[in-house]
Amino acid sequence: MKQTIGFIGMGNMAQAIAEGFVRSGMVSPEKLRAYAPHQDKLRQNAERIGFIPCASASELTASSDICIMCCKPYQIEEVLKEISALLPGRALLSVAAGWDFDRYRPLLPSGTRFQFIMPNTPAMTGDGVLLFEAAHSLEAEERMQIMELFGCLGLVRELPSHLMGIGGTITGCGPAFVDMMMEAFADAAVKYGISRPLAYELVSQMVLGSARLQAVTGKHPGQLKDEVCSPGGTTILGVEALEKHGLRAACLEAIQAVMRGER
Ligand SMILES: NC(=O)c1ccc[n+]([C@@H]2O[C@H](COP(=O)([O-])OP(=O)(O)OC[C@H]3O[C@@H](n4cnc5c(N)ncnc54)[C@H](OP(=O)(O)O)[C@@H]3O)[C@@H](O)[C@H]2O)c1
Repeated sequence: MKQTIGFIGMGNMAQAIAEGFVRSGMVSPEKLRAYAPHQDKLRQNAERIGFIPCASASELTASSDICIMCCKPYQIEEVLKEISALLPGRALLSVAAGWDFDRYRPLLPSGTRFQFIMPNTPAMTGDGVLLFEAAHSLEAEERMQIMELFGCLGLVRELPSHLMGIGGTITGCGPAFVDMMMEAFADAAVKYGISRPLAYELVSQMVLGSARLQAVTGKHPGQLKDEVCSPGGTTILGVEALEKHGLRAACLEAIQAVMRGER
């Protein structure tokens, strides 16, 4: 990647993306810049990742061909006020939840090329999901290059605007729900005498393996479950218990709770 890339905000998600870019060799660290208000923390991250720290969002924007909005959603309008005059002729990518093409459009000066991308935390290890909103204003070739670049962080898929909410809920919130299940299975292992560290090791590899088996074979998850349940065997007793305790309904309800957004 020849262009310079600037991160507005250098928190968890920006670090995951910047580290992924550098680790994959797709971008050399000197092409990366970042701005965040707490400059000490920014400099520490700059030493670790290798990007150039900037003193303000406008300094960052002026020195970046592609800017990635990585601050919290409620900070975006304030940041845009500072940088919008510098945006025409540049590409602005944004990973902020809920800030899609239509929401940005009235706030961006004409000549700004825009793309909303929804990442998730497994992007930190290159196992993420990167959802690209179908509505965008990047140039076609530029977008392909950017999709290829984000491919170093995991699976890249495009979704129509109206499905970005549910897509981001499944892939963005899903890791927390799977983590809860992993914690619960590890508790069961500990109850029966396995040490805590080994329990987490066994459970995470089991989840990783189950996911990879499904992804590689493309088999229906129900078929894979059937293949573990021998007739009259023991796994089916656990399946019965999960059904009795409403696992499927609980998963559906978790996603619906996020989509409703009620407190
Ligand atoms: N974490 C996820 O799983 C996830 C998934 C998908 C999308 N996202 C999106 O990613 C974005 C960042 O989330 P995060 O989890 O990385 O949050 P985070 O760790 O809290 O990072 C937020 C960053 O924004 C910086 N910041 C604060 N005020 C700013 C300002 N006025 N101008 C520029 N930067 C400012 C913070 O700097 P200081 O540290 O110096 O205060 C920090 O570096 C959010 O919009 C979120 O919706 C996150």
